[in-house]
Amino acid sequence: MIKKKNFSLKNYNSFNIDVNAKEFIEINSKEELIGLNGLLKNEKILFLGGGSNILFTKDYDGTVIYLNLKGINIEKENSDFSVVKANAGENWSNFIEFCLNNNLGGVENLSLIPGNVGSAPVQNIGAYGVELKDVFLSCEVFNFDDFSLKNFDLFDCEFEYRNSVFKKNKNLIILSVKLKLKNNNHDINTSYGDINDELKKSNIDNPTIKDISRVVSSIRRRKLPDPKQIGNAGSFFKNPIVNKEKLNWIEKHHKNVPSYKLDEKYYKIPAAWLIETAGLKGKKFGKFGIHKSQPLVLVNYGGAKGGDIYKLSLSIKEIIKKIFKIELETEVNII
Ligand code: EPU
Repeated sequence: MIKKKNFSLKNYNSFNIDVNAKEFIEINSKEELIGLNGLLKNEKILFLGGGSNILFTKDYDGTVIYLNLKGINIEKENSDFSVVKANAGENWSNFIEFCLNNNLGGVENLSLIPGNVGSAPVQNIGAYGVELKDVFLSCEVFNFDDFSLKNFDLFDCEFEYRNSVFKKNKNLIILSVKLKLKNNNHDINTSYGDINDELKKSNIDNPTIKDISRVVSSIRRRKLPDPKQIGNAGSFFKNPIVNKEKLNWIEKHHKNVPSYKLDEKYYKIPAAWLIETAGLKGKKFGKFGIHKSQPLVLVNYGGAKGGDIYKLSLSIKEIIKKIFKIELETEVNII
């Protein structure tokens, strides 16, 4: 266990916001975490994983617990499936690499998503037609309310689009995750238009999981800023879900509004389209702004204050509400 006082979190959040934590504790094992029982009474606590979905707007006046639990192993195998267990502090991209190297399929569409394994269930990460819930088996959860350990299955996690029980109850801390992955290249998901276009361009007819991972990574590199170079937390807003009446109303003014039918009543509209149509794509305000290729992503060009990025997000919401009468919902955790 490593303990520090007045510790800068700049290298612990993908927005690269330079704020201090009053106290910072790095935990390297489950036992260390359980051993904190009693020590942290009356403390304000924040559990931090990869820091890739968080915006710090001020110094953290409490204890930040950084979960650095490592280890990946294949637990159970039959000829079709393997169960892979990864500890929460494993970097998600390293985990994908492990899966590709062991020919384990199901997560290749989620390549290059920043963050750690333990954060993946929190917002049910999703990209290119796949969500974590599609391969999820269970996770080990530490309940900070009573210091108990419990296994959560798919049902317990209450997964929805970019949502889960862990987003609602911050005292439930994920220590490890088990996924059920395919032992071969069956059931590859190429449903997302961009993937098909890219495969055609590369003349790949029967893609392997490694092909899909490469294609997804190249789409992401083209569209999304790399947090190692430009601070960001991926999509800042969720794609809004609207009813048919609202969609018809928008279509009256904007015939080309893209939408995805969810069921008979509801449609998803890309927030990126709303922000671009409002004329905000690529707008830069000194040290921060709205990304030039994917306006759903707010960026820190270096040295920006979290509070300024937060204020920008509020202005975007206001503008979108005024033009389209849609309330954008923030995806990133604001601290
Ligand atoms: N669009 C625009 N202008 C742009 C970019 C996109 O109008 O500059 C519109 C287009 O109509 C495009 C549509 O938005 O067809 C969808 O764009 P994209 O494929 O880039 O996906 P997205 O809906 O904007 C979501 C996720 C991303 C994920 C991609 C790919 C959310 C909030 N975001 O973005 O996830 O990588 O799909 O599956 O659901 C993240 O959560 O951090 C994230 C990056």
